[in-house]
Amino acid sequence: MIDLSERSTKGSFSRLLLHLHPRTIPEASARVRFTWCFGGLAVWMFLIESITGVVLMLRYVPTLSDAYPSIQDITHIAPYGFFVRNLHYWCGQGMVVLVVLHMVRVFVTGSFAAPRRMNWLIGLMLLIGTLLVDFTGYLLIWDDRALWAWTIARNLTQGLPILGPFSAAIIFGPPELGDMSLIRLYAWHVVVLPAALVLLMGWHFWRVRKDGGISKPL
Ligand code: HEM
Repeated sequence: MIDLSERSTKGSFSRLLLHLHPRTIPEASARVRFTWCFGGLAVWMFLIESITGVVLMLRYVPTLSDAYPSIQDITHIAPYGFFVRNLHYWCGQGMVVLVVLHMVRVFVTGSFAAPRRMNWLIGLMLLIGTLLVDFTGYLLIWDDRALWAWTIARNLTQGLPILGPFSAAIIFGPPELGDMSLIRLYAWHVVVLPAALVLLMGWHFWRVRKDGGISKPL
């Protein structure tokens, strides 16, 4: 007897895999000099960020009094802390650069046009998400620059018409600076934004396949 429920689960799973791994790729699209692998390299940066980020979480303390000292502890005392912190920092910057280069590549090859318009919009969301993870990470160091960057970002958000105070409360937490402010940033940086990026990336890759694979040179 055929177990239909098992068959359909297996079927959906293999269909998902088939959608992620195309059976054939047009030769022209597979050339490094067409995509420069910028999108794929951005994914690698994200993976390194996730692994080094989890390691940094073992020693980072998200409170106003302990955040900066814990960064010093990671850099100067924790075994391999200097290496892990620098890898996290430089791969974060590398991801921003690669995502921008990837976007430029998509633009100059005209790959944003139909049927790829939706994927261009998903890409824009990925760009915003990438910049926000980078910015929140910069604030977590909680030195003087981070304090003033936080103050400016909060005041700018607060000043938005109509939704300003509400958006500022959701993004930055209570108006007065305290531990809750840093914990809020930490939640954005380590949970909400990375989870959003993972979901958006899944959608992005699925759309590449649905739109007929990577575009061909013009
Ligand atoms: C975290 C950020 C991003 C990641 C990891 C990512 C990843 C990828 C990958 C792996 C591909 C397959 C082809 C290639 O590597 O070029 C791709 C295609 C594409 N991406 Fe992105 N991407 C990101 C951001 C963006 C941005 C910012 C845009 C534009 C606003 C964009 C628009 C597109 C489009 C339209 C395609 C299809 C291109 C084609 O068919 O030639 N992506 N992306």
